[in-house]
This record gives sequence, structure tokens and C-alpha cells, in this order.
Amino acid sequence: MDFEQAWLSYRKRTDDTNRQYFAAVYGEFEEPVMNTAFLEIERAAAEILDVKTERKRGMPEPGATGIWLKTDPEEALSEEGYHISERDGLVVIAAGGVRGILYGSFACIRYLQTGRTLRGAELRENPSNPLRILNHWDNMDGSIERGYSGKSFFFRDQEVLINERTVAYARLAASVGINGVVINNVNVRGNATRLIEEPYASKVAEMAKIFADYGIRLFLSLNFAAPMELGDFDTADPLDEEVREWWKEKMGEVFTRIPNLGGFLVKADSEGRPGPFTYGRDHADGANMLAEAVKPYGGIIIWRCFVYNCQQDWRDYKTDRARSGYDNFASLDGRFLDNVILQVKNGPMDFQVREPVHPLFGGMKETNQILEVQIAQEYTGQQRHVCYLIPMFREILAFRTYCSETEDTVADIVSGRTWGNKLCGMAAVANTGDDVNWTGHDMAAANLYGFGRLSFQTDLTAEEIAEEWIVCTFGDDSEVREKILKILMMSWPAYEKYNAPLGIGWMVNPNFHYGPSVDGYEYSRWGTYHRADHEGLGVDRSDRGTGYAMQYNEPNASLYNDLDSCPDELKLFFHHVPYTYRLRSGKTVLQHIYDTHFEGVADAEKMKELWQSLEGKVPERIYRRALERLEHQVWHAAEWRDQINSYFFRKTGIGDEQGREIY
Ligand code: GCU
Repeated sequence: MDFEQAWLSYRKRTDDTNRQYFAAVYGEFEEPVMNTAFLEIERAAAEILDVKTERKRGMPEPGATGIWLKTDPEEALSEEGYHISERDGLVVIAAGGVRGILYGSFACIRYLQTGRTLRGAELRENPSNPLRILNHWDNMDGSIERGYSGKSFFFRDQEVLINERTVAYARLAASVGINGVVINNVNVRGNATRLIEEPYASKVAEMAKIFADYGIRLFLSLNFAAPMELGDFDTADPLDEEVREWWKEKMGEVFTRIPNLGGFLVKADSEGRPGPFTYGRDHADGANMLAEAVKPYGGIIIWRCFVYNCQQDWRDYKTDRARSGYDNFASLDGRFLDNVILQVKNGPMDFQVREPVHPLFGGMKETNQILEVQIAQEYTGQQRHVCYLIPMFREILAFRTYCSETEDTVADIVSGRTWGNKLCGMAAVANTGDDVNWTGHDMAAANLYGFGRLSFQTDLTAEEIAEEWIVCTFGDDSEVREKILKILMMSWPAYEKYNAPLGIGWMVNPNFHYGPSVDGYEYSRWGTYHRADHEGLGVDRSDRGTGYAMQYNEPNASLYNDLDSCPDELKLFFHHVPYTYRLRSGKTVLQHIYDTHFEGVADAEKMKELWQSLEGKVPERIYRRALERLEHQVWHAAEWRDQINSYFFRKTGIGDEQGREIY
């Protein structure tokens, strides 16, 4: 096999108190997902405990030992929720529906993997978010847009690929609670437009069935201009009756061919993709046309809000890319059909290491919303640097939007608690590929694992998730656990330190987004400026500047609008300040830049040393793979430090207070 099992690579445990439970599993196994749950328990029992599991149809006799998979509508459980309880040798996994049984089974397996006894177990979980989706940006030639771990395992040479990886992937995704997967890139070009037609549709249906057995719905990204590319229209106008009819018919065919299809993800009027603007229509017109067409089949339309003008003139100080999501969508609140969900990136720009939370969260009250994050580390080290992102996602989820008096955080909104929505949740741009370890950097798997676990249970801390992943992946040696935990938890702060300072972002090489280039984007038309000159830097997004800060509800608007109250870590995102401006920390902006860049490199060195001290304690192949990347990271962090520090030293002529060498 040319791939590993990541956190599902089970290790033997000899002295396990859990053996008695795994010898028999009771339940009804007709439904495919129930069968999957049994097979997963059986496999874990064999691989971890050397126990052969017997499948027993029906209810256990009084006094029986084993595991009972019991779908139980009486329980206070959602369809995907589960309740694990152990009494007198019998573990009951009760669940609202079959998917809850599967998640409960994986939770039981985690007890085994992490060496906890099921004796006396009592665990009830209802998933925090209804939708927990991975977005793959995979192209049909096998390349992956922003992919850093090999080629696609969904497509190769214009064909849909179904093989051992497909099932292995579904297992990994379901084991952490993922229930939706978009398999193709949001930029739908070429043959990807044809995935909704034969011969592709039958293959997609086959894949959808494999996923469905793991409780996962398959989604496709859709080309808004399909009526022109597949039909013989010269328009894709969403209000054109014939275009609407064409979509209805098309969706009839598609859902007949792919009965398990969840629906579609659409990137429209963004970065050159077609959309309703061409016809003078708005996003509600576009999304609703498609929503109507998929509605009879229970389909949903996930419409992205990543819409901005990527042709800005640098002399224009009023146009602001950060504003555009809110400007384009907020006024459409209430107009979207109930099977439309708006998918909003976590911040208003594009997955930078630090951004404020997108003001559309808390800016719309009558619209379903999904929070989109990116575990593909496009701007956070491209899976060559370790950068554990769960602490960032936790901060975003905890952000109070003040859209209502209670339950106003991003987590509340996307879980449906704030406005009672049923279609909402979290999506992540995926970080997988056909590399042997799935994610390029072995430690990037913590982001894949972590996204699933966090979206299922947003109250888990980043440390809890990391520890779980470490023990499942590497076993429960306490030194290994503590040191890898330390590496993961210091990695995002370290990356932020040696990257662009104080929330300004974008000091990367244009296009491929790797490595420092302070002015790379300053002289392009994408509207991603830092506005540094010899006196100061930062973008004025206050009410004296672009006005972006005012898109937030109070008191956030005032907090960001006011230079002094604006949090340090976002100071340059919201304000243009002199280099000598003193931050709330007491340091000048310039000294902060110098200090953090020296610290960031020291942190990278520390992470490498921690890893080196684990030689012989983690599998050799993983040790080598990760070490190679950590060595690169140390070198590359120094490159970041030097380019950024020299740039500002030369702009200002002011040296480092501590007299360190700046080139
Ligand atoms: C970023 C990324 C693109 C991607 C886009 C999107 O701009 O660099 O590759 O297509 O986001 O989210 O649609």
C-alpha cells in the first residue's frame, strides 16, 4: 500500500481492560452505515487487541457483555449524536441515527487508542455543527490548487479515481466527524464542468456511495456558466426563464444519477469566475436559481462570499478588498432561499496568519452561514512549516459579534444556536494529497484531525485535540506527548512572529504565496497593500480611511476604529501609524517588528530541538520526514526575519535597541 493510516494506524495493546467488550457487537446491521460501524469496531479490535469480534444480530440477553449499537429515538440525541455508557460489562452506544452510531463507534475506538478504560464510561455528544465539510481544491488533471502534499487522489488524467485510497480517506474523515466532502476545486474549469454529466456522473455516484457508507455526503463545485458550456445558451442569466428550466432539468438528471449527492458549492463573480453580475443580477438571484433547481432532491447550494475587485489602482485609498464581502452580501440578508448557505472565509482578506473575523458573521440575521477556514497552509507555511491552526480557529469561533444579546459568537452563529438555522456549520479547505502520509508534513495531519474534531465539538480546547491526535498517532509515551504538544502549541504564534507584522499580512511572493517578499503585492493590483513608506505603515480602515471598521456591530466597530483601543495584533490591519508609535505593549511598532522576528526564529529553532530530542521515540520514517521540514523551517524563518527586518531598517534608518545584527 502506498499510503499510511495517519491517526488510524493502530498499535497493539496487550494489557487492555477493554478486551471483554470487543468480543461481541449486538445490533441490526442492514443499513450500510451500521455495517460500517461494525467493521470499524472489528478492525480496531483485531489490530489493537488481537480480539476477534462476533457480530450478533438483535438485542443482548440480560447479563451479556459486549457492545450494543442501539439507535434510540428516545434519547436526548440529535441524529448524529451518541451516548456511550458502560454497565456490568455491556457498552451501549445509543444514537439518534446511524451516523451517530458510527461516530460513537469511533469514539469507542479512541478509548482503545488512547488507553482509557470503557469501564463506567459515560459520554454524551451531540455535534456542535450540523455541517462539517472538507473542500478539496482538486483539479481533474490530478493537480491540486494550493495543494502541498502530492497529487489528487480523486482525479487523475481527466478521470475520476476510485481505489483503496477512497475508502481509506472516507475512514479518516468519518473518524473525526466529517459529514460532507466537496471533491473538486471551486474554480471549475474544463472537464470539471462536466462532472455533472456522463461519463463522469456514474463514477461520481460510485464515489458518493462509498462516502455514504461512512455517513458522508459528496458535494461538487459547480460552474455558473454551465448552461453556456454544456448547453447551447449564449447567456447564464439567472432570471432568464430558459436558463432556469435548463438547470431544473439538469438537476433532475444529476440527482437521478448521483442519488447521494449533497448539493453544490459555487464560487461566482470572484477572481474571474462567471456569475450573476455579468447580467446585472445579484448573488441572491444567482444562488436562488440553483437552489430552486436542487430543492426537489433535498440538495443544498453553498454559495461563497469571497467576492472582491481584484483590479485595484494603488492611488485609490477608498476601495478596500476587506470591505467587499460585506458590501456585496449584507444587504441581501433575508433574500436567500432556505436551502442556500453562504460560505464566508474566517477573515475579510484571504487566510492570512492573522486577520480580524469577517464582519458578515453577525452582519446577517436571516441567512444560513458556514465558516470557511483553510487547513491547506497556503499562507501559513505550505505544510513545510509546522503551523497548528486549531488555536486560531478557536479564537475565531469564540469571537463575540454582538449581533444579539446572548449566543452571539461565531460558534453560536454557525452552529445554528443564534438564529435557529439547520443548515450551517464549518468548512475547511483541505490539506490532503496522495503523499504517503496524506498531508506532506506529518504534523499537518494535526490540522486535518483537529478541524474534524473541533467542528464536531467546538468546546474542545486546542490542547485537548492536539493531545488526542498525538496519542492516536504516536502512542502515549509521556515525553513524546509533552514535546509534540509543545511544538504544536508554539507553532502558530511562532509563524505569526516571523511573518508580516501586526495583522498587515501579504508580505509573500505573489501567486505562489510562499516565502517573504515585502513589496511583492504592494505593486500588484489585488488590493492587498501595506502602504509602508519612510514614516509609517498600515492601512487606515477606520472611519477616516476606508471605513471597514464600521462594518462591525458595536462595540467592535469602536474598538477597531480607535487607534489606541485597537488590539495590537491587528493594529496595522486597521490603522496607518508611524514606526515610532507605541503599542499597548509599550514597544514602538518598529521595535516590535525587530523583536518578534528574532523571537520567531528562536522559536523555530526550539521546535526543531524538541523534535530532535525525540529521535528513537517516534517511528524513524516520520522522524526523518518531519526533521527535514523543520530544518527547512529554521532556515526559512531566518530568511523571513532578515528580509523583513532589513526592509524596515532601511526604510526608517532606526536600528535595533538591542543592537542585534540587521543586514
Ligand atoms: C485564494 C487562493 C486561490 C483560491 C481562492 C478562493 O485567493 O489563492 O487559489 O482560488 O483563494 O478561495 O477561491
